[in-house]
Amino acid sequence: MAFRSAFLAASLLLGGVQSLSIEGMLAAPRRSTANVNPSGELALFTSSVYNWTTHKSSTTWQVLDVASGNVTKAPFGSAVSEFVWVGATNTSILYINSTNDEVPGGVTLYTADLGQKNFTATLVASLHAPFSGLKAAKTESGINFVVNALAYWNNGTAYNEELVTTPFSTGQIYDNNYVRHWDTYVSQQRYAVFSGVLTASYGGYTLAGEPKNLLFGIEDFVTKPETPVQPFGDFGDYDLSPDGKKVAFLTKAPELPKANYTASYIYTVPHDGSSAPVAVNGPGSKAPQTAQGASESPRWSPDSTRLAYAQQDNIIYESDRFKLYVATIEGNSTTVKSVAEDWDSSPGGITWSADGSNLWVTSEIHASNRLFVIPADAPASYKPANITGPQTSLSDFTVLLSGHALVSASASWTSRIFYIVSPTTTSETKILFDAQTVDPELTTVSQSRSSSIWYGPNENGDLIQAFVYYPLNFTTEKKWPVIFEIHGGPQSSQGDTWSVRWNMQLWAEQGFVVVVPQFTGTPGYGQNFTDKITNNWGGTPYRDIELLFEHLEKNVSYIDTDRAVAGGASFGGFMTNWIQGHALGRKFKALVTHDGKVNQYGAYATDEIYFIQHDQNGNLWENRENYGLWDPLSHAKNFSTPHFIAHNDLDYRVVQSEGLSLFNILQTKGVPSRFLHFKDENHWTSNRENSLLWHRYIFNWLKYWVAIDEELIQEGVIKQ
Ligand SMILES: *[C@@H]1O[C@H](CO)[C@@H](O)[C@H](O)[C@H]1NC(C)=O
Ligand SMILES: *[C@@H]1O[C@H](CO)[C@@H](O)[C@H](O)[C@H]1NC(C)=O
Ligand SMILES: *[C@@H]1O[C@H](CO)[C@@H](O)[C@H](O)[C@H]1NC(C)=O
Ligand SMILES: *[C@@H]1O[C@H](CO)[C@@H](O)[C@H](O)[C@H]1NC(C)=O
Ligand SMILES: *[C@@H]1O[C@H](CO)[C@@H](O)[C@H](O)[C@H]1NC(C)=O
Ligand SMILES: *[C@@H]1O[C@H](CO)[C@@H](O)[C@H](O)[C@H]1NC(C)=O
Ligand SMILES: *[C@@H]1O[C@H](CO)[C@@H](O)[C@H](O)[C@H]1NC(C)=O
Ligand SMILES: *[C@@H]1O[C@H](CO)[C@@H](O)[C@H](O)[C@H]1NC(C)=O
Ligand SMILES: *[C@@H]1O[C@H](CO)[C@@H](O)[C@H](O)[C@H]1NC(C)=O
Ligand SMILES: *[C@@H]1O[C@H](CO)[C@@H](O)[C@H](O)[C@H]1NC(C)=O
Ligand SMILES: *[C@@H]1O[C@H](CO)[C@@H](O)[C@H](O)[C@H]1NC(C)=O
Ligand SMILES: *[C@@H]1O[C@H](CO)[C@@H](O)[C@H](O)[C@H]1NC(C)=O
Repeated sequence: MAFRSAFLAASLLLGGVQSLSIEGMLAAPRRSTANVNPSGELALFTSSVYNWTTHKSSTTWQVLDVASGNVTKAPFGSAVSEFVWVGATNTSILYINSTNDEVPGGVTLYTADLGQKNFTATLVASLHAPFSGLKAAKTESGINFVVNALAYWNNGTAYNEELVTTPFSTGQIYDNNYVRHWDTYVSQQRYAVFSGVLTASYGGYTLAGEPKNLLFGIEDFVTKPETPVQPFGDFGDYDLSPDGKKVAFLTKAPELPKANYTASYIYTVPHDGSSAPVAVNGPGSKAPQTAQGASESPRWSPDSTRLAYAQQDNIIYESDRFKLYVATIEGNSTTVKSVAEDWDSSPGGITWSADGSNLWVTSEIHASNRLFVIPADAPASYKPANITGPQTSLSDFTVLLSGHALVSASASWTSRIFYIVSPTTTSETKILFDAQTVDPELTTVSQSRSSSIWYGPNENGDLIQAFVYYPLNFTTEKKWPVIFEIHGGPQSSQGDTWSVRWNMQLWAEQGFVVVVPQFTGTPGYGQNFTDKITNNWGGTPYRDIELLFEHLEKNVSYIDTDRAVAGGASFGGFMTNWIQGHALGRKFKALVTHDGKVNQYGAYATDEIYFIQHDQNGNLWENRENYGLWDPLSHAKNFSTPHFIAHNDLDYRVVQSEGLSLFNILQTKGVPSRFLHFKDENHWTSNRENSLLWHRYIFNWLKYWVAIDEELIQEGVIKQ
């Protein structure tokens, strides 16, 4: 038993303060990461709040003074959807105004200088489609920029939905298996990177011609290229070289079906589109041919001659380790070298140091995203040291001229924190801004209300980390009911981070101790630990959770394991359903499944086929026993614990019939159960009004079954 941290030290006295409410958590400012200017003196970020009286959200732009940490309002509002620092001065910006007076559904580009006392913006271009994802570089003659938008595949022009006439029929016909993805049916259009030139003329800039589709030259022999890769790709999927002359972008492999392979390649193309894109990696390229999987983070070096990126080896495994590469591109000749290849970590978020000698990267260690610096020519054996600690998890960072980094991070105890770290003096961390000290809604969230323990070893000899969150007025003198929160993925972590969907401090404030085990399969504990969940979903991970239960039962006096409940979303929902059919299910008083699978034989209704085929070690017809091995439905005979099921209609990842099947079985068996769905939500419940209802019903369910509240809410429940 390895007890690593202050499980007992968190005795709190938080008398008289307003606790974190569901409404408060949902309405409190949601701040973007900081976009720092070239001199490192200013940063801009957005803040979005919700008003429960008007039922509206509003977004403002804020300016962070880096020296003092002072935050003031920017001289423009939410019409500005994004901006880049570019132009004559260190405070010059180019921004996208999300409206266009001339073209419905179009946007406009403006320039401005935030250093001027009176804010004046100048309209420089009218774009005829909803372009976004702006990147820009100053050139001798003006500004070169790139943006992205949906494009027509037949002629490559940008697609503007508002200008399209609705067809008379709604039918859509398919000949291949990427029918829908996440929450959207795949259509004829694909996202593409477009390049544009703003020519400097006396007193301003003018757009030289229409933006040009840079993907249009790629030969597609199975699937159409697309950048950013949907649904989660963004402008991080492409990059403009600092000299403005070259663009790098990634797209899924055009020679492979998209639904059953993860492979994606990085292409480079001249910014003016004068020749077709050329692949840097992938089959037949100069890059190591061991790398066949997904690529990420293409980033040009300061001198525009090298391109850093990360790629996985495995062609169907989305949770394989990312390895770093640097491609040197001189004229038509490209060489590719791997960097720190043996480092057992999965780096991303690549940024070059100003002199081009180092790569700053983020990587997850023990469920928090940390910062590392690696020489761009590091040998295979190189092992970098993390610069940031486990207290926060990084969202983004900027390397400052001083060689320090300005970090945007969060933790369970703060929704946003900006601080400065140095790679050499690790102890010096200067906090510029901490939402917890500013937002009244966050008064009771606190670093002392979270901790982590390590338990085990488990059957493989691995120690398991679990994050622990404490209720208000926690004391070890009392016995507390406990929630087991089981994370999704399964190859993703749930550490000490802020979330508006699974906010663990909010859950704890309902009167529970909350434990969140990082069971076998969780990334950030070495690739081998992640890989051990393959074809083992209800095996080791289930027993890791069982081991945590035993640990709390035997060794933690203030946890009342007779009043234990469990729940989770996605894989966490699958595991909850698995628990319902097994011995551990009888130890919980109630369960909650959000968008979880119950029928493994129904796996092929999902959108990403590679995921199920990888995790079950093959397809359904040749490996039927693997799909049956961890099928919760096969254990429905044992289902008997009260169970709340939430499942949303637009969930194309785990289809809604999974939740409905489970609910109908529980009802048929007479097991107390409730079904909640939202017709307009996907795998996540994001809309704040929907989320409020979701939280209310779920918290009420859990409290009722451990006798914190007496009554189950009847308001709004639909009777037969
Ligand atoms: C915490 O303790 C204070 C002071 O005793 C009390 O006013 C408050 O209601 C308690 N809060 C909770 C959630 O128990
Ligand atoms: C931007 O700021 C840096 C650092 O203060 C300075 O060296 C540089 O000259 C400035 N650039 C411009 C264009 O003013
Ligand atoms: C929410 O809107 C109402 C009605 O406009 C207003 O009175 C109130 O001040 C707003 N609340 C906040 C926190 O801005
Ligand atoms: C920061 O803001 C405070 C309060 O508005 C002000 O007193 C102080 O002078 C500001 N500091 C700087 C460096 O701008
Ligand atoms: C955005 O564009 C609209 C016209 O489409 C204009 O009225 C408004 O002033 C612009 N706002 C900013 C901040 O550029
Ligand atoms: C800024 O604008 C205000 C109001 O339009 C004007 O009175 C003032 O003279 C301007 N200041 C400068 C420095 O241009
Ligand atoms: C491109 O193709 C689409 C679909 O056929 C068409 O609606 C659009 O007008 C075309 N655009 C141009 C510029 O030809
Ligand atoms: C992927 O699908 C294609 C046909 O769409 C098929 O030829 C190929 O064998 C499949 N590969 C895997 C790994 O499922
Ligand atoms: C580079 O490749 C292009 C297109 O294949 C060709 O036209 C050009 O001559 C080549 N340049 C050199 C320096 O080899
Ligand atoms: C790096 O990570 C380890 C493991 O979590 C941690 O013990 C150490 O404190 C971290 N380094 C810094 C500088 O925080
Ligand atoms: C991972 O497992 C492989 C095969 O079992 C082993 O050779 C390797 O040393 C392990 N790696 C680490 C970092 O433990
Ligand atoms: C309880 O703690 C003891 C002593 O640290 C340890 O040997 C034992 O394995 C623990 N039991 C469980 C179930 O974790």
